Amino acid sequence: MVQDSASGRVRRHLEQLIHQGAPGDKLASVRTLMADLGVSPSTVRTAVAELVRAGSVETVAGSGTFILAPPTAGSVSANRSWQTIALGSTQGEADLLAPLRAQQNPDTIDLASGYPGPSLQPTKLLAKALQDATRRPGTFGRAPSDGIGPLRDWFAEQLSPSRNHRVLIAPGGQAALSLIFRSIGLRGEAILMETPTYVGAIAAARSAGLTPVPVPTDSGGVQLGGFEAAVKASGARLCYLQPRFHNPTGATLSPERRAPLMDLASRHNLILIEDDWLYDLDLAGGHLPLAANDPDGHVVHLRSLTKSVAPALRIAGIAATGAIAERIRSLRGSEDFFVSPILQETALNVVTSPAWDRHLRRLRTELKERRLVLRRALEANNDWCLNIQGGPLHVWLETEDRIDPDELRVSAMRNGVAILSGTAWHPGDAPAKHIRLSVAAANEAEIIEGLARLQESLPT
Ligand SMILES: Cc1ncc(COP(=O)(O)O)c(C=O)c1O
Repeated sequence: MVQDSASGRVRRHLEQLIHQGAPGDKLASVRTLMADLGVSPSTVRTAVAELVRAGSVETVAGSGTFILAPPTAGSVSANRSWQTIALGSTQGEADLLAPLRAQQNPDTIDLASGYPGPSLQPTKLLAKALQDATRRPGTFGRAPSDGIGPLRDWFAEQLSPSRNHRVLIAPGGQAALSLIFRSIGLRGEAILMETPTYVGAIAAARSAGLTPVPVPTDSGGVQLGGFEAAVKASGARLCYLQPRFHNPTGATLSPERRAPLMDLASRHNLILIEDDWLYDLDLAGGHLPLAANDPDGHVVHLRSLTKSVAPALRIAGIAATGAIAERIRSLRGSEDFFVSPILQETALNVVTSPAWDRHLRRLRTELKERRLVLRRALEANNDWCLNIQGGPLHVWLETEDRIDPDELRVSAMRNGVAILSGTAWHPGDAPAKHIRLSVAAANEAEIIEGLARLQESLPT
């Protein structure tokens, strides 16, 4: 009885939140509701389950509870609970990438996205490139599943003038990662990953059935002693690395570690998956990819244009050699036949235009200024100066112990600023709490205002 009335109270509270919110909004977590209303977890779950049955909300495993659009007049209320039975047990994977994909209100300040906002996109260059592409014969037809020749050549030549690599075109870096993991990984096997690392790589590895094994890093990139110990302990043959401007820490592999790392790869027959996601934003331009000096073919290199051009230009190049390239290629063809030639021709026109270098210079300068503004504001504030790391696009910020980064993300969103929590960015246990703030989509004034809103979202 007590349980009934308590869950009724929680239900009424939730109905009020649903009334105030909009479809797609996330409801407060079980933990927050327990604390706010002084009730047990089972009481909260009972109330949520009633609302799920009523079709007002849906729960997404690992992500939370979201408001659903009310049924339109005349629509038939559906009972899809059979699907849960038909699907059986979950594959055990929370949707780690839901926060990256979350839609925002137009007046939310975006300190979460790593994609350049409209003011950083080369819109004129893109529009002309697209228009020229549509005039080329064959643009509306099919393309080879490896990608169009001149674009593959461009990626290969950038990596090494001798064009030693076989390049395949994939629809963006995320798709490239997923393809690589699934084509060369065996379900159940270990993959070494720097900790922390890009959450999208952790999610793609897990969905390929691989088990991420954390490898320690510092400001010089992956620590070689820990790396070799992890290879020996796990028997891994695969390793995912970001040697340039690591996301999220910003570290670049130090020059002294490069040859020993390649030596380790050779002694242990390792495949190194080099995610060179910010190739185009290297301000100093001095770091050669590992793949550029890899005669025996240990490295699979990938690079995408989404960060340096625009999110909609979903084009990535995967460069590999020998049997590894062949293995990736054979899965690539069965995935989706080919990447749209409209996008490939447009990308080719963009990167071979005389305006490309100018755009990159402008982009780098603007991002550098935004980053300075963010760092200065953080360093001037006692709440944020615990440990600040980061690269050209992001700041990776250690938070005080009293702050729960997942809860901060939710309350910041309510206050009109989007950030990312670092909780899911560790392939193993997280040694500290972090959030990630990005400067790609917010200008300087928005960065300052976003930080003020974030400040207001801190627990008192
Ligand atoms: C390190 C890293 N690799 C790969 C990707 C995926 O790239 P894309 O946006 O081209 O799919 C991202 C996206 O943020 C990233 O941060």
